[in-house]
Formats: sequence, C-alpha cells, structure tokens
Amino acid sequence: MIRLPKWSLRYKFIVPLALFTIVLALAISYISVERFYIELENQLADRGKDLGKQLVDRFWRNVGVLLPPDTKLHYYQVVQEGTQIYSSVVNNAPPWTEETLSPPVDDSRQLVQLNGKPYLELILATDPGLVKDPTTANYVRLYLSMADVYTAVQRAFLTISIFTIIFILAGIGIAIWLYRSILGPIEVLTKSVKRFKIDLKVRAVVKTGDELQTLAEEFNGMANTIQERDERLERINVDLTKANQVKSEFLAVMGHELKTPLHAIRGYSQLMLEGIEGPVTPTQKEDLENIVQSSDHLRSLIDNILQFSKLESGQEMIHPESVEVSKIVEEAMKHVSVLAREKGIAVHASANGIRVYADETKLKQVLINLLSNALKYTKTGEVEVSTKKRRDEVLFAIKDTGIGIPEEMYEKIFEPFTQLDSSNTREWGGIGLGLSIVKKYVEMHGGKIWLESQVGKGTTFYFTIPLEAITNRW
Ligand SMILES: Nc1ncnc2c1ncn2[C@@H]1O[C@H](COP(=O)(O)OP(=O)(O)OP(=O)(O)O)[C@@H](O)[C@H]1O
Ligand SMILES: [Mg+2]
Repeated sequence: MIRLPKWSLRYKFIVPLALFTIVLALAISYISVERFYIELENQLADRGKDLGKQLVDRFWRNVGVLLPPDTKLHYYQVVQEGTQIYSSVVNNAPPWTEETLSPPVDDSRQLVQLNGKPYLELILATDPGLVKDPTTANYVRLYLSMADVYTAVQRAFLTISIFTIIFILAGIGIAIWLYRSILGPIEVLTKSVKRFKIDLKVRAVVKTGDELQTLAEEFNGMANTIQERDERLERINVDLTKANQVKSEFLAVMGHELKTPLHAIRGYSQLMLEGIEGPVTPTQKEDLENIVQSSDHLRSLIDNILQFSKLESGQEMIHPESVEVSKIVEEAMKHVSVLAREKGIAVHASANGIRVYADETKLKQVLINLLSNALKYTKTGEVEVSTKKRRDEVLFAIKDTGIGIPEEMYEKIFEPFTQLDSSNTREWGGIGLGLSIVKKYVEMHGGKIWLESQVGKGTTFYFTIPLEAITNRW
C-alpha cells in the first residue's frame, strides 16, 4: 500500500477549513443569542422603568395605583421612608412573601428567582439618590417576569442552532467538494507516480476536465513511453544474454578444438627437438624451439579464453583449502621464469610462512597472470612479489619497473578485452583477458584488487585474500 506523507494535502486542507467553519458558526450563533437576550432584557427593563414612573406619578397624585395593563409585571411595591405603603400581585401571579425580597441597595436591576421563576427586579428611587438607607428610603420595586424573554431566547437559540448546523454542514460540504475536485486528483497523481516506480503498468485516472486531467494525461503518455522502452530493453537484454551465451559456448568449443591439434604440434616438435625422430640441424633446432615456444604462448591464450568463458557462464567455482602462500608464489615464479630469463629481468620474492584458505590453482593463476603482465610490460629493471599478513587477510603486491598505467585506466583495464593502447597490442601480444580473470578469481575468494602506478616508472598490483574460508560466490 502506498503511504501518503503524514501531513498530506488532505489534512492540510480539510481539517483547517472544517475547524474554521465550526468555530465561525459557533461564534456567530453565540454572539447572536447573547445579543438577542441582552436586547430583550433591556427592552423589559425600559418597560419596567416606564411602569415604575407611572406608578410613582399616580401614587403621589393620589389617583389610585391602577397601572396600564402589562402581562409581564407580576408584583410591585411602594415604599416610603422605609415603610411599605402599598404592594400588589397582578396578572394572576402566585402570592409572594416579604422574605423573598432582597433589601434595596440603590437604583438597581437584577435577576432574581421568585416562587422558583425568573424575574427582573427593578428598584427605582422616587427621589434620586434616596435609596441609600433602607430605613428612610423612598422607592418603588417592580418584578417583571422573564419567562417570555427566556422562551423567546430559547426559540431564537433553536433557530440559530439549526442555521449553525446547516452552516457547518455546508462548510464541510464545500471542503469535501474542493478536496474531491482539486486535492483528490492530486492525490491520485501522487499515488500513481509512486506506484509507477514499482509497477510500470500503473496509470493515473483523473477525469476532472481541467488542468489536472491534462497533467494526468501527460503523465500517462510519459508512462507509456517509459513502459515501451522498458519492454524493448528487456527484449534486447534477453537477446544479448542469449548472444553472450552463444559466444561463451563458441569460445569453449573452439578452445577445446584448438587445444587438441596444438597439443599434437607441440608434442611432435618436442620429439623432433629431442632428436627422437632423427638428428636435426642447428637451424632446424632453432625453428623447432620457436614452434614449441609459440605453441606454449598459443596454449596460454586458449587457456585464458577457456577460463574466461567458464567464468562468464557461471560454471566456475572455488575449492578452498589451506595452502602455503610462499609455495604458490614460488610455483608461479617458476612458471614465468623462462620469460624472465629471456627478458633479462630478475624476479624477487619475499616469502614467509603464511598459510591461507584458498583455491590453489586459481590463486596460482592470479599470480601467474600478474607476474606475466609485470614481465611483459617491463623492458628493464626488476619484478618483486611480496606478501604480508594484515588483520584477517593476506596482502599480495606485485611490483614492476615497467611502462606504467595512466590513472584514468586504473578501473578500466580490469574489463575483458581492454588493453591500454591497442596499437601496442602487436608489440606486447595478448588479448586483454588476463586482468579480468584475475579480478574475478580474487573476488571469488572475497578479496579485492587495485593498483598504484606511475607512467614510465612502474606499477604495483595489490590484492587481498581473506585468511578464513569463504563460501562460493560464483
Ligand atoms: N604491469 C603492467 N604494466 C603496465 N601495463 C599493464 C600491466 N598489467 C596490465 N597492463 C595493461 O593492462 C592491459 C590489460 O591487461 P590484461 O592482462 O588483462 O591483458 P593483456 O596482458 O593485454 O592480455 P592477456 O593477459 O589476455 O594475454 C594490458 O594490455 C596492459 O595495457
Ligand atoms: Mg595479461
């Protein structure tokens, strides 16, 4: 499953928008209800003050205390010099007791509960500032029912709540719609691009009819091209693998076929050289020696080809055993001694008693190839082989005083059929397989190979072989 980033657009977009809508809707409805309530309470208080004024007026003029009808006024009381001179319960309100009254403080307005019901209590001084001392105060006190106010507020609250919910739902709806039409397709595209890395058949399906659809179509077009190229490359790869196999088989068959007559040529030449087939003149002897030498050279070329084709086809395995390093070095040196003698180059070795777990034949082959190169590419000077135990491996170094290798070729010369200067090929001979075989053999042992060189001064090839046995890698 493709995972979206933790803070994907979905959350960055929908969550703030939804939260904003909810907070806005709640704030608006709270403020509306609050203001509505305050407005109604003020209206009620104004009405009360009006009634209070009329009450005082009528009372002092002694025209009776009959008030204009108002259903909200339930109780009133007229107090003179701190003594109640008149009180009344109107509009069918239940009777009330003195104890329920709070003592007058000043011109005041407050919400109180009388008989378990909410009232707005108004205390109005008949002379301004006289309600300081309850025992001498002149005032009227009115109780106006808040029931209608509360009912109206409740109704308003209900209506506003319905609108708030509609508003919130509309906000969330808009957020989802925006998400579907913009962010949804972007998410589809993102997921498609991610999955495309794993499965080249994946395409983005976006049908928005806008720029996002164009973007998805462009992506799909690119994906088609990549998929076609990938399939073509795969086909080419299969063909190439087949061709490579055929080449390896051909090399193996040809190598074996060449070896048989070569063996005969060398054998008969050797017989003639030894005089077994009859006496040979000094010139004939020289020719026969040349034939034997060329056969040896040809055989080593064929051996290289056979080893290479075996490595290529993956048939090659290593058979490690405990071997004495100095013994292998000595045998390899013996192998190249003829060439060394011919070229007049001394080969030294600093051997010690190190033992290593390795495939004897292959390790010897590595040393022979490196020594042959060292001798081949050195005109004068000497070749030195040294071995050193370090940590859990043995370090081999084959040093020559030859033509050297430029730095940009340090990696490349390990590739098969690669030679420094193809125009030199004829001068030095060889087909450029030696080092590629060496590298593979060293790596099969779990070792590494590298070199240091100075053009015109000489080259040192280093390689390591672990002391412990490793499992087969090829
Ligand atoms: N000691 C060396 N000094 C200078 N150049 C070297 C040395 N060893 C290898 N080379 C360069 O690296 C190239 C590749 O070496 P490699 O052993 O793979 O092939 P080759 O010697 O040319 O042919 P082959 O080993 O197959 O007979 C050589 O052609 C040569 O140019
Ligand atoms: Mg070589």
